Amino acid sequence: MNYIVVDSYKELSRKAAQIIASVVTLKPDCVLGLATGSSPVGTYDRLTEMYENGELDFSRVTSVNLDEYVGLDGTNDQSYRYFMNKNLFDRVNIDKNRTFVPNGLAADPAAEGEAYDNHIKELGGIDIQLLGIGLDGHIGFNEPDSFFTKETHLVKLHESTIEANSRFFASRDEVPTTAITMGMSSIMQARRVLLIANGAKKKEIMEKAFFGPITPEVPASILQMHPDLTVIYCEND
Ligand code: GLP
Repeated sequence: MNYIVVDSYKELSRKAAQIIASVVTLKPDCVLGLATGSSPVGTYDRLTEMYENGELDFSRVTSVNLDEYVGLDGTNDQSYRYFMNKNLFDRVNIDKNRTFVPNGLAADPAAEGEAYDNHIKELGGIDIQLLGIGLDGHIGFNEPDSFFTKETHLVKLHESTIEANSRFFASRDEVPTTAITMGMSSIMQARRVLLIANGAKKKEIMEKAFFGPITPEVPASILQMHPDLTVIYCEND
């Protein structure tokens, strides 16, 4: 594991964007595993700047996102599809037809999960998976549990996650209580994993996740087993 501590969110975003950009440059038809939440916003800004400066070309890139709320369609401004369009896809020259987010409106979430995993396999797997981390150690929406779930699956969000994510909604009642998330197999099979986190409030969970025991009660701890993991943490907000 390469655990990098930086002093500012700006530096974190710059480093994360450089790592992703190097993957795109070395393999223009790569598959990027992408994440939502507030942590990657600066990374997406920096990647956009690189594209605008002519340093980066997304025209052959494919992306797969980690998760989506159940019940929200892509035009809902709280959906993760909307987030991705706004923060990255609409700002660079990626082909939107090659950007994939789990379908939060799927009638059969189990079938959607299976199809999503099969699709990732058909694409040849993920070249680099970007991750944030929840306060309870969740990655994607893989919540603490007594076991790790391998497949992309439907998940009931924990109260603390609903509470944490309510800051993006008009009221707590509007936060969906379920989501579809990529499971641990697709994440762990990504050729490289890059996890970014910032803020003093994440300090405790970062210690547990990367320096504590590997346990499904801290889902991110499984990443300690990944052969090519980079973590970038900035204690300042
Ligand atoms: C959500 C997302 C996660 C993300 C987490 C942390 O729950 N599903 O993928 O890592 O929030 O978000 P933030 O970066 O805003 O702290």
